[in-house]
Amino acid sequence: MQSREIHLKRRPVGEPVAEDFAEMLVDVPEPGPGEVRVRNKWMAVDPAMRGRMSDAKSYVPPFRLDAAMEGPAIGEVESSNDPDFAPGDLVFSRLGWREAFTAPASALRKRPRGDLPSEAWLGYAGSTGLTAYAGLLRIGGLKPGDVVFVSAAAGGVGSLVAQIARLKGHKVIGSAGGARKAAFLRDTLGLDGVIDYREEPSLTKALAREVKALGADGIDLYFDNVGGDHLQAALAVANPHARFAICGMISQYNVTDKPTVPRNLTQIMVKKLTLKGFIMSDHLDLEPHLVADMTAWHKAGLLKEVNSVQEGIGHALDAFHGLFKGENLGRSLVRL
Ligand SMILES: NC(=O)c1ccc[n+]([C@@H]2O[C@H](COP(=O)([O-])OP(=O)(O)OC[C@H]3O[C@@H](n4cnc5c(N)ncnc54)[C@H](OP(=O)(O)O)[C@@H]3O)[C@@H](O)[C@H]2O)c1
Repeated sequence: MQSREIHLKRRPVGEPVAEDFAEMLVDVPEPGPGEVRVRNKWMAVDPAMRGRMSDAKSYVPPFRLDAAMEGPAIGEVESSNDPDFAPGDLVFSRLGWREAFTAPASALRKRPRGDLPSEAWLGYAGSTGLTAYAGLLRIGGLKPGDVVFVSAAAGGVGSLVAQIARLKGHKVIGSAGGARKAAFLRDTLGLDGVIDYREEPSLTKALAREVKALGADGIDLYFDNVGGDHLQAALAVANPHARFAICGMISQYNVTDKPTVPRNLTQIMVKKLTLKGFIMSDHLDLEPHLVADMTAWHKAGLLKEVNSVQEGIGHALDAFHGLFKGENLGRSLVRL
């Protein structure tokens, strides 16, 4: 059996370009003892993959050059030489960016079929869901009456943060880029305040306007996916003792110059704010709660299950580049 896979050929500087990658055709061996052969059905692309393309020290090692990159994937077991896996099993792995692979059974986690669509394990019931859930509830400490602000609110993590907070009865302001996304936040997710940041000369003024329209004094919880001027606006419009769950800073990932914003960090002290960064993988203990809540919301028809889907491994890099151009609505997936 053969598989196409995407290799990292050189480390990008600034925005990644086509020459940084190569599509390779490789043989996928029969599984040896304790190994399983899997055909991937879905893979997801994440902004964090940009970090692993560089060799800067981080919380996960960089991708190796001249090897297939890694990322979340859902596949089906084709053949197994391990007693715990059988053909037809649905499995999660971090061996995305390839159509098929043979790996030790320890690299796989079985996922149930039935209650949820397969791709949900890469979205609301998977790492994206856990990022939103842990960040909002544990790191942000969502509590009654909180007014929540979330950036990149039309993306994978952001759209789930917004929905969980709304389902728990909170007023939510979301920001996203462009009229299509603003309409999605307003009409599909039903958010209480919407900012199309591309149309706003001042994000701080826009956020203050939305807060005022809700009859609130400020925001109590900011879920940051973007950093930069979004973080600056949230600091400016935060209530005293507000909590900031620092999930990501996508506006900074391709930047090669020193950041110029936020310029108002003194607000952290003046307003006695709490800013806390987090990484989803430190909160795996919340997985059973996430899956129970998401399954219940899914069955009750309360979740807007939004994915942007590219077809085929040949379009996986398009999906990845699209994250930085804001092309995706909801979770960005590739059907393999
Ligand atoms: N801490 C963790 O464990 C963890 C885990 C997963 C993800 N994350 C972080 O969470 C964030 C969202 O990840 P995701 O996978 O759900 O991606 P996503 O939000 O689905 O996609 C990225 C979105 O970011 C926005 N964006 C891109 N460049 C931007 C810029 N310069 N300024 C403002 N917005 C920009 C775009 O939306 P617009 O069109 O609205 O600009 C784009 O659609 C990222 O920062 C990611 O690194 C963290």
